Amino acid sequence: MTKAIYPGSFDPLTLGHLNLVQRGAKIYDELIVCVASNPGKSPMFSLEERLDLFDRAITDLSNVRVETFDGLLVDAAHQFNARVVLRGLRAVSDFDYEFQMAHMNHQLSPGIETMFMMTGDEHFYLSSGLVKEVAKLGGDISRFVPKHVAESLTKRVKEREER
Ligand code: PNS
Repeated sequence: MTKAIYPGSFDPLTLGHLNLVQRGAKIYDELIVCVASNPGKSPMFSLEERLDLFDRAITDLSNVRVETFDGLLVDAAHQFNARVVLRGLRAVSDFDYEFQMAHMNHQLSPGIETMFMMTGDEHFYLSSGLVKEVAKLGGDISRFVPKHVAESLTKRVKEREER
């Protein structure tokens, strides 16, 4: 049985993330989305909110579940008994960071392999950061994230403006 983890900040998840999960779910017997606590990044959504938003997006995928992790990614992989870390690659600009991270993780735990999947051609320009920027500036984000995420993001932006 092949088990993979799909880690990320997912602040919030986009249709690009979801596309990767849908494709990964066809390759691995079990896929665990691992939402990083990433306190240093001061996320827009709390860890629990990011987990809940992802959970609501994968109800039709029976071999996918969502968990959270704190600390080293390789420790999370061991904790969930996964030998594979799945990551998406968009443009060349992703490569440096991903290359370093994959090698560091391999140094830390040689038994764990990072597998890269190209992001779907409809989503290669998408990032959580850009979606948040568009939302903050009042643009339409409905094509970039699932409906419930668009609603939550719009609400969060409004709440922050009112503060
Ligand atoms: O969605 P992101 O922000 O690109 O995800 C990055 C993430 C969470 C996968 C990365 O920051 C990570 O693995 N964090 C855990 C800390 C860790 O293991 N660091 C050392 C290995 S590079």
